[in-house]
Amino acid sequence: MAIKFNLNGNDVTVEAASGTPLLWVLREELGLTGTKFGCGVASCGACTVHLNGEPVRSCSTLIEDVANTSVTTIEGVKGAAAKAVQTAWQKLDVVQCGYCQSGQIMSAINLLATNPKPTDADIDEAMGGNVCRCATYVRIRAAIHHAAEIMEG
Ligand code: FES
Ligand code: FES
Repeated sequence: MAIKFNLNGNDVTVEAASGTPLLWVLREELGLTGTKFGCGVASCGACTVHLNGEPVRSCSTLIEDVANTSVTTIEGVKGAAAKAVQTAWQKLDVVQCGYCQSGQIMSAINLLATNPKPTDADIDEAMGGNVCRCATYVRIRAAIHHAAEIMEG
């Protein structure tokens, strides 16, 4: 079946069988490999993208469900929250192996776009579904606070 949606600001049409996970289409059909496969069952957050601005797990989002929507991947993020997160991540050297980090960043951008001054509890709640096997959680929390300061100016 042909599915049309907006991807990182561009209209795209993909051919995929009904039931195909969005993650497969992004990585295998469209070559956007920044979005990672971790668990495949919506439990780790490595595959997080934005669907109409909200974070979703692309491993568990069916391609037919993105028809006529807007999808943003790590390759297409932009705006004040995205810029602040990228700057803070680099400054605090958050990344260890890096595998989980595009998903972490997608969740962090959404958090800051909706809550520009999150508390530790807000961060824990928003980021709770993003697992990091390298345990970078302390640096992630610090980087989100730093990104909030950058956005505040
Ligand atoms: S790969 Fe999608 S949540 Fe783990
Ligand atoms: S940085 Fe290695 S899994 Fe998170």
